[in-house]
Amino acid sequence: MRLSSPEDSLALGERLAAVVRPGDVIALSGPLGAGKTSIARGLLAALGLEEEAPSPSFAIVQPYDPPHVRFPVLHVDLYRIEEPEEAEELGLDEAREDSLLIVEWPERLGEDYWHDALWLSLELTPDGARALTAKVPAAWRDRWLLT
Ligand SMILES: Nc1ncnc2c1ncn2[C@@H]1O[C@H](COP(=O)(O)OP(=O)(O)OP(=O)(O)O)[C@@H](O)[C@H]1O
Ligand SMILES: [Mg+2]
Repeated sequence: MRLSSPEDSLALGERLAAVVRPGDVIALSGPLGAGKTSIARGLLAALGLEEEAPSPSFAIVQPYDPPHVRFPVLHVDLYRIEEPEEAEELGLDEAREDSLLIVEWPERLGEDYWHDALWLSLELTPDGARALTAKVPAAWRDRWLLT
């Protein structure tokens, strides 16, 4: 799938919001500036968030709870995590029970850690757009209708 503009990235997030549920993990992979936060912003806005979601690069984990969003969401940015062990303290395993996890830089913990995640990879294209590919696990097969 091609995302030609920042608006396309936001719109993809909005479309994801229509099919996500608590317990899901959406992994957003791709180089610096690929549009990961933009997709997360579109998704959070469509779940009800009124203010623009900040990038969680410094907080690492940015939680959102009702009534600001429809159900609990953790927006996570693992860019600054250097060792997988550092992530244990973030409480992601417990959070997964009742929250949606949106994870930027998921590869910091290794792909296997996210075996049931909807894994979206973004690449920059020479013309300034973004190319998106999806790795779709069983839990998403009847929901990933976007390509
Ligand atoms: N599909 C797109 N086409 C062109 N530009 C885009 C697209 N999506 C997002 N952008 C722009 O790319 C820039 C970086 O976007 P964003 O912050 O979402 O990237 P990121 O992947 O989260 O970066 P980081 O790795 O720093 O967290 C922003 O200026 C954004 O508007
Ligand atoms: Mg980002």
